Amino acid sequence: MSQTKDWSANQYLKFENERTQPARDLLSHVPLTAPKRIIDLGCGPANSTTVLATAYPSATITGLDSSPDMINRAKKVLPDRDFHVADLSTYTPDPSKPVDLFFSNAVFQWLKADDRIAVIKRLLEPQEKGAVFALQVPHNLDEPSHALMEETAANGPWAEKLSGVKRDGFQSPQELQVHLFETSYYHALESHEAVIEWVKGTGLRPYVDPLEDSEKEVFLKDYLRRLQGAYPVSVDGRVLLKYPRLFMVAVK
Ligand SMILES: C[S@@+](CC[C@H](N)C(=O)[O-])C[C@H]1O[C@@H](n2cnc3c(N)ncnc32)[C@H](O)[C@@H]1O
Repeated sequence: MSQTKDWSANQYLKFENERTQPARDLLSHVPLTAPKRIIDLGCGPANSTTVLATAYPSATITGLDSSPDMINRAKKVLPDRDFHVADLSTYTPDPSKPVDLFFSNAVFQWLKADDRIAVIKRLLEPQEKGAVFALQVPHNLDEPSHALMEETAANGPWAEKLSGVKRDGFQSPQELQVHLFETSYYHALESHEAVIEWVKGTGLRPYVDPLEDSEKEVFLKDYLRRLQGAYPVSVDGRVLLKYPRLFMVAVK
């Protein structure tokens, strides 16, 4: 993972609407009418922050992300809001400013499996009763789009280089009262190549970033061939990408 390059806001935003819909859906399950202070954990290019700012225009909203490229974009999108580069595994909010809502759309899968529950508990622990932690993570490790990345990685000259890349599934904290549910989205994409464009912005990055350009080209061809075998072309010529996502809303 250490060889993964910075995120690209441009690549990520190629599917902005599809990537933001889960943020809207997550927010619809947050049981707060007027939170005063909100932190968007892993705000990316401010697409999720915009959802929050639209729903709660008078709230104080801070967006945090470990990617400088994402934070630069976020500052341009919402110049009146507060954005900082920060790593969630070490970030600690100012104890003098209580947080009503921690919101995190499509981020916690990027934290080390051992850190995820610890981060949720550490952030919620100093907050007042009623504070909410709402997050959404992709739940798609068994879908062909991701399973075939893993298969391609394990079956090529790059196998050793990519041996430690596999992502862990998400576990919810057992100690909190949580509302946990899954929704599957179906994205009608233009082609199998578009499936690759989609995952290039997110889950494919740790697999291709460590490769040389020539290796990358062969990897992508091999991955494309596997995708073509797994996803049929629909009558309208499109490819339907099933994308399950796991939602968690915890109230302190
Ligand atoms: C898939 S994007 C989600 C962006 C946005 N929240 C959304 O709703 O689309 C994941 C974001 O998490 C950020 N990220 C990954 N690991 C992080 C960490 N340890 N600390 C802070 N941000 C992190 C990435 O830089 C990226 O912008």
